Amino acid sequence: MFHQTEKIKIMLLKIPEILNQDQIAQAKDLLLKADWMDGNITAGYQSSQTKNNLQLPDNSEAGRLLGDMILQALAQSNLFMSAALPLKIFPPLFNCYQGGQAFGTHIDNAIRQVPGTPVKVRTDISMTLFISEPDEYEGGELIMEDTYGSHKVKLPAGDLVIYPSTSLHRVTPVTKGRRMASFFWLQSMVASDEKRALLFDMDMAIQALREKVQDSPEIVQLTGVYHNLLRQWAQT
Ligand code: NI
Repeated sequence: MFHQTEKIKIMLLKIPEILNQDQIAQAKDLLLKADWMDGNITAGYQSSQTKNNLQLPDNSEAGRLLGDMILQALAQSNLFMSAALPLKIFPPLFNCYQGGQAFGTHIDNAIRQVPGTPVKVRTDISMTLFISEPDEYEGGELIMEDTYGSHKVKLPAGDLVIYPSTSLHRVTPVTKGRRMASFFWLQSMVASDEKRALLFDMDMAIQALREKVQDSPEIVQLTGVYHNLLRQWAQT
């Protein structure tokens, strides 16, 4: 089975059900009780001009608990691991848009320092994990631009979208209700979006082949090619 890779220049991949219903309920409960602040705490100069939302502070206990829950869930997802090939993941942040709040077109900062540590993460992949259900708010679409046009994303609670941090994106105004989500970044072992997309396509094709035919010397050979390309392209 091929997954929902969309054949567009940017590799935008939707990964359903990273969080289950219990985890979503727990996340909503903690976030509704949490202390939010102005979202410009993590914005660079350019994005601070267009960013208008709420965010949990770095030292938020709720944010740390939920962030750990998300990272553990991601580690169980083979699809995520294959598509992202993560080396370092920035601890998940949380935002909330309501009352017309939006985030205008921007590109995410290239380098993020993990708060309270010397660790720097190059942002190769941006991620949004939806915590509110789509029918809980109006607007609030995440829109990515590429040379083929723009792509609109609004997913069920618990679903994740990953896309290259090199792409221009924005969040349209939330005109009704409340949109809560987690957003974060990762540094991939493979910096190039194009090389990473090739490896992902190859991995998906090999897995699909393996379901169709018993292990064959050709599959072993293709699996070898996958690993040898990864060996050439990965930085650890
Ligand atoms: Ni962004």
